[in-house]
Amino acid sequence: MYQEIIKLIRKIYDTDNFIPLHEPRFRGNEKKYLNECIDSTFVSSVGKFVDQFETAVAKFTGAEYAIATVNGTAALHIGLLLADVKPNDEVITQPLTFVATANAISYCGAHPVFVDVDKDTMGLSPEKLKAFLEKNTTIVNGKCVNTLTNRIIKAVVPMHTFGLPMRIEEVVEICNNYNITIVEDAAESLGSYYNHKHTGTFGSIGTLSFNGNKTITTGGGGMLITNDKSIAEKAKYITTTAKVPHSWEYHHDMTAYNYRLPNLNAALGCAQMESLPGFLESKKNLAEKYNHFFKKNDAIEFIEPISEGDSNFWLNAIRLSNLEVRNEFLKATNEAGVMTRPIWKLMNSLPMYKSAQCGNLDNSEFLENRIVNLPSSVI
Ligand SMILES: Cc1ncc(COP(=O)(O)O)c(C=O)c1O
Repeated sequence: MYQEIIKLIRKIYDTDNFIPLHEPRFRGNEKKYLNECIDSTFVSSVGKFVDQFETAVAKFTGAEYAIATVNGTAALHIGLLLADVKPNDEVITQPLTFVATANAISYCGAHPVFVDVDKDTMGLSPEKLKAFLEKNTTIVNGKCVNTLTNRIIKAVVPMHTFGLPMRIEEVVEICNNYNITIVEDAAESLGSYYNHKHTGTFGSIGTLSFNGNKTITTGGGGMLITNDKSIAEKAKYITTTAKVPHSWEYHHDMTAYNYRLPNLNAALGCAQMESLPGFLESKKNLAEKYNHFFKKNDAIEFIEPISEGDSNFWLNAIRLSNLEVRNEFLKATNEAGVMTRPIWKLMNSLPMYKSAQCGNLDNSEFLENRIVNLPSSVI
């Protein structure tokens, strides 16, 4: 069986060489814009490509404002700070995510609390979130307080796993009832929609990543998206060291961050945004090929988006029957030069988050032992 899958992937990518999980494609104006950027000498955090890239991402996602950052983790960090997350607050997120989601919460001095995902979307479960909040919280002076720890739950960070849209509208409704701000981690879901609205635009703040392994890349890079002008202005300010505008004086009125995306990276981003529609088309075709193949196989399930969701199919995922089979599959494919990877270990199993409060995590534990990503680069 594994040999058949390896054969399929080799046929799709038409190569006998090593097949990576997700490699970038530079087939458009990347070199032209990079050269233009170098010639202009504006290679750092000021320049026309940063503005152009932000405009392109805002237009594509339908967000009013977009603020480019050095990476997606920095965007999350700033997003949480602007959601008023302070030391000793709590932030709810899913245990099944890339470590950056939980780390950004820690950077604020806050405590992550892990609530389960849905089995089908692999993103934060509205049902489990509601149950957790009903059982563990009370509203005091308009704030949601965790009755176990006495700490304020300031924000919820849902994440659209591998580009598959999670049930964000339901999470928004629940959070509104509890007066909790949503910072939507859309690092993996540029080009994914829930009920035809772009992911990352449901919460007060959404964040994107343009790391080398993402659907489009700027080498390293990220973006904060929002419809709130005041959040957008603050985001730009604190990602650029809180420098008070002046022609020559260096005056900074708070401890802030040097998180602005350099123009050089943004030049790459502008070219990648031009290619994005083509990339998404190619990824959709690839997902259809995988889906068609796995429909004939009862033991392996290809993970499809739920009916409300349109996925960018950033990383295609399959569900194997148990941990042993998963491990055999990973060994067979990787030894054959076809790169596959397991889903992340649950955040609450990592040393730094071991003592975090958790809800019932049945679905996350089930998925942790079974989900594997297949090669998903644009063809
Ligand atoms: C879910 C998630 N959140 C956050 C990040 C952080 O993005 P970056 O690597 O650009 O810092 C990533 C990706 O790397 C991610 O997959």
